[in-house]
Amino acid sequence: MADANKRLGILTGGGDCPGLNAVIRAVAHRCAQKGIELLGYRYGWAGVVAGDSVVLDRAAVKGILPLGGTILGTSRTDPLVVPDGIAQIRRTLEADGIDGLISIGGDGTLSASQELFERGVPLIGVPKTIDNDLCGTDFTFGFDTAVAIASEAIDRLHTTAEAHNRVLIVEVMGRHTGWIAAYSGLAGGADVILVPEYPFEVEAVCERVRERERRGRTFSIVVIAEGARPSGADNEIVERRSRVRPGEISAWLAREMERCIDTETRTVVLGHIQRGGTPSAHDRVLATRFGVHAADLAIAGGWGQMVALHGNEIGTVLLADAVRKLKRLDPAIWDIAKVFTYSAATWRRPPAATAGGSPPPARPATPARRAAPRQRQPAVPADIQLA
Ligand code: F6P
Repeated sequence: MADANKRLGILTGGGDCPGLNAVIRAVAHRCAQKGIELLGYRYGWAGVVAGDSVVLDRAAVKGILPLGGTILGTSRTDPLVVPDGIAQIRRTLEADGIDGLISIGGDGTLSASQELFERGVPLIGVPKTIDNDLCGTDFTFGFDTAVAIASEAIDRLHTTAEAHNRVLIVEVMGRHTGWIAAYSGLAGGADVILVPEYPFEVEAVCERVRERERRGRTFSIVVIAEGARPSGADNEIVERRSRVRPGEISAWLAREMERCIDTETRTVVLGHIQRGGTPSAHDRVLATRFGVHAADLAIAGGWGQMVALHGNEIGTVLLADAVRKLKRLDPAIWDIAKVFTYSAATWRRPPAATAGGSPPPARPATPARRAAPRQRQPAVPADIQLA
């Protein structure tokens, strides 16, 4: 039931994500349609703590649908660790006459939102993250755009990898889950996909490259999520993985691969390109649907819930059920990926020699080339090599 005296607030927290502006616009239009005022808090929870807001009427959201980023700005400010943060939030909401907040964020922002809700702050959650790793919703907006960007990059890298007979390792985002890696790897026809959910064997990745070479495929594309890790607890890179650093795992893998194959191996770290720029049509529509539903939920006073995509329907879940756990890559998607790529799940280390039996054949230094010599580029003296 609409309440013309209601005043709502909205904020965007955590990493930015294509589609945030589409949500803001949708909420603003729905509120305007229902005669409800909307304030936008700037830079996530930092703006609520500081009482830094702007009025979001129809004019304020004009033209923002196709824009990446967020007109409100964002931050990773955790109000629970800001001194006096919760009391300050209460003061802001009271001073601004806010009946409830719409909090757009990923796991960090929404976990803080749930904590605040438990302490009496009325709010609604809207799930966003390019990583698609939030529980309670089948998909988050931003993911489709990130996958499209990564897939296009993989397409482009295919042609240059093939032209130079190289292995190209493409590192995509995904600290804890491999949704972007799996989807973009499938869409881009990657030869190897490596995700955090399934630790990998370097030797198996190399063998996949060699096996392709034996079939005359003298280049390979490896897609790796930034949070992927090799198997083996005693591995130094595994020990350092508790804090994911962009570019670290792809550089490590390239060095390791060059020890076991003689194909030149290069890395490309896509990084924030996956998060920037205009949202896809799919993400604009999903974000708009989330926005209108979030506004309706807030107007109805359905606090403590998060809007969610279930199949093709927009529904709701309790915020408490959506946060503080990860939605890992769907095993059914991984099964599809395994049809086309190396996967740690299907690769088996060659059997060790058994007592009295014959030892396994020694691996030649460059088995791929020996098995099926391919057309090599003629050697060029270093002093006349082209740039
Ligand atoms: O959670 C979204 C995300 O883009 C991750 O995929 C990535 O690891 C992280 O944010 C990067 O965060 P920041 O922009 O703060 O470096």
